[in-house]
Amino acid sequence: MTSTDSAARREGRVALVTGGTRGIGREICLALKGAGYRVAANFHANDEAAETFARESGIPVYKWDVARFDACKAGVERLVADLGPVEILVNNAGITRDATLHKMAPEQWQAVIDTNLGSCFNMCRCVIEPMRQRGFGRIVNIGSINGQMGQYGQVNYAAAKSGIHGFTKALAQEGAAKGVTVNAIAPGYVDTEMVRAVPKDVLEKIIARIPVGRLGHATDIARGVLFLIADDADFITGSTLSINGGQHMY
Ligand code: CAA
Repeated sequence: MTSTDSAARREGRVALVTGGTRGIGREICLALKGAGYRVAANFHANDEAAETFARESGIPVYKWDVARFDACKAGVERLVADLGPVEILVNNAGITRDATLHKMAPEQWQAVIDTNLGSCFNMCRCVIEPMRQRGFGRIVNIGSINGQMGQYGQVNYAAAKSGIHGFTKALAQEGAAKGVTVNAIAPGYVDTEMVRAVPKDVLEKIIARIPVGRLGHATDIARGVLFLIADDADFITGSTLSINGGQHMY
């Protein structure tokens, strides 16, 4: 296949990014749009940020809570009616509710498990059958360095992100014969609102342990997504791409 063929094919491909209006998701959306995909961004709560993003980028935004299966189903149905079947899904939406276990409330545990891991089931379940029927699909799940190595104050987040890595490998096996690839990216500490919320002294110590010597940029993660969803990336499935400035080599 020539690069022109490849570009022509992806022109029509519909890509959905959850949590796509801010942070890493925002940059993924912009990169996909720049590469010629037809992009839609899901968001949950921040209407103002979503409206600004939609206005500035021209990318349509869809509001629903990825932690709720029924909401995902209704949201995907709306999106498919507007744009056509979802061929590329990036499960990016995620939250933190950091606390040491002895101080963690059950609600902090459940919210992170439902939003970060439950969302992968909810969203994949809503798009997987058409992908299998059409013989093409690209799913990228955004895990985390902290799912690979754990992190003080994050039993909820580390468990959910670690779960994403297992989920990815299992679904990759199920999709392989149907043209559906499923991969994960494990970002390190990226300069987003989520990371900026880490106490300053803690963050300084973390940055000191990043061999590249800086926080990641959201664009560093977006370029990994573009690599994994390419039409000719059909032999890459079940993998985890670590993008962490050398902080953890796994
Ligand atoms: N290792 C060992 N000990 C640690 C520690 C660490 N990483 N972090 C804190 N401690 C110790 C402190 O030194 C302190 O010890 P002393 O009582 O002996 O002084 C004790 O733990 C309590 O620390 P705090 O006063 O900070 O306790 P807290 O209850 O107020 O907060 C915390 C604890 C919520 C874990 C807070 O330290 C924190 O927010 N840490 C950052 C966690 C983090 O890195 N989150 C990542 C968010 S970004 C992300 O998740 C994106 C991604 O994918 C990478």
